[in-house]
Amino acid sequence: MKLQQLPLNNKRVLLRVDYNVALENGRVAEPKRIEATLPTLRYLLERKATVIVLSHLGRPKGQDVQFSLKPVTETLASYLKKEKLPHSGCSLWPGTYPSAETKKRVDSMEEGEILLLENLRFNAGEEKNDAALAKGLAELGDCFVQEAFGALHRAHASVDALPRQLPSAFGFLVEKEIEVLTKVLTNPPKPFVVLLGGVKVSDKIGAIENFLKRGVDKVLVGGALAYTFLSSQGIGVGQSPVEKDWVGRVGELMKRQNGSRRLILRQDHWIVQDFKNPTNPKVTDGPGIPEGWEGMDVGPKTLEVFGREIAQAKTIFWNGPVGVIEVAPFEKGSSQIAALVAAQTKKRTLTVLGGGDTIHAISKAKISETAFSHVSTGGGATIEFLEGKTLPGIAAIQQ
Ligand code: 3PG
Repeated sequence: MKLQQLPLNNKRVLLRVDYNVALENGRVAEPKRIEATLPTLRYLLERKATVIVLSHLGRPKGQDVQFSLKPVTETLASYLKKEKLPHSGCSLWPGTYPSAETKKRVDSMEEGEILLLENLRFNAGEEKNDAALAKGLAELGDCFVQEAFGALHRAHASVDALPRQLPSAFGFLVEKEIEVLTKVLTNPPKPFVVLLGGVKVSDKIGAIENFLKRGVDKVLVGGALAYTFLSSQGIGVGQSPVEKDWVGRVGELMKRQNGSRRLILRQDHWIVQDFKNPTNPKVTDGPGIPEGWEGMDVGPKTLEVFGREIAQAKTIFWNGPVGVIEVAPFEKGSSQIAALVAAQTKKRTLTVLGGGDTIHAISKAKISETAFSHVSTGGGATIEFLEGKTLPGIAAIQQ
């Protein structure tokens, strides 16, 4: 069902969001995921709904105050004030569920009131997709809106079991994410170039295989995950991290590509001898890294080759930095990639970015998110969607 079809007037709406945001000194450090839900929140409030907001934060073991949503409530309240939305307050409810007190509190909510329920993962049943927890939550609302794009790949109670019990719809953010990623997956303007960075091959190999199966023009492998690819080809990578358990599968993938040049690995590297004291970096001549040295960033040859592919692309999907952006000056490769992709957006290439680290890379490069066609709020969810998997949170709404 579309959000516009859901009867909302004077209804109690359970709004599942992904406010799993970075915190620093007890405050929200990166509010993008909160901001991204405001259009749906505004829509609900303008229709005089009372809104019960559900989210998880981090991976707490039990009720750990470190993972309280309190800082999020404060940031949300400050946005609501700025937006001058019609609402009668926004507060945090510290309960676990099902509980008679929560039901009483929700029943007493006034029109336009927003109640943020404390971290769902404080309930043991959340990650177990527990039916009793889902039932307890369902009793609090008349309908359900799924706005937690970043959590759609989790078969958890608030994502999977809960929406199956109520009239449910996607929020505007989830609708937009699904629309853009479906286009990237099924009908991308060509040439289509995928650029992958980050550390773990294990997280991304499924998406790489799916893209190649679907006829992507180029997959550029730039981050530390490239070391596992190089290693599978018998190329030495010194002390750089390799996922040994994945070398076999990656080797098979390389063999299937059979030199087709659709899969392009990083060609050179900035390397150091001591990761903790990265002085006197040097650049390699080729893809090999000598013993005792460790790769930190892509080198000039890689940027030239990747730059050529980016400049020809009509669709670009980019996930993951190509170097260790936390350690200066090894953010430079990712900053140059960000500038190239942003320049390409101006030439009407569809550019889609995903993952928290990619967002961090563009902010280090001081390039605004508006310089790209779409910056996804999902990390794992975006990758699993692009692997072609059916995400539990989508299936539950579409049932
Ligand atoms: C994310 O940040 O990717 C989502 O909020 C999901 O979080 P999780 O990986 O802890 O389930």
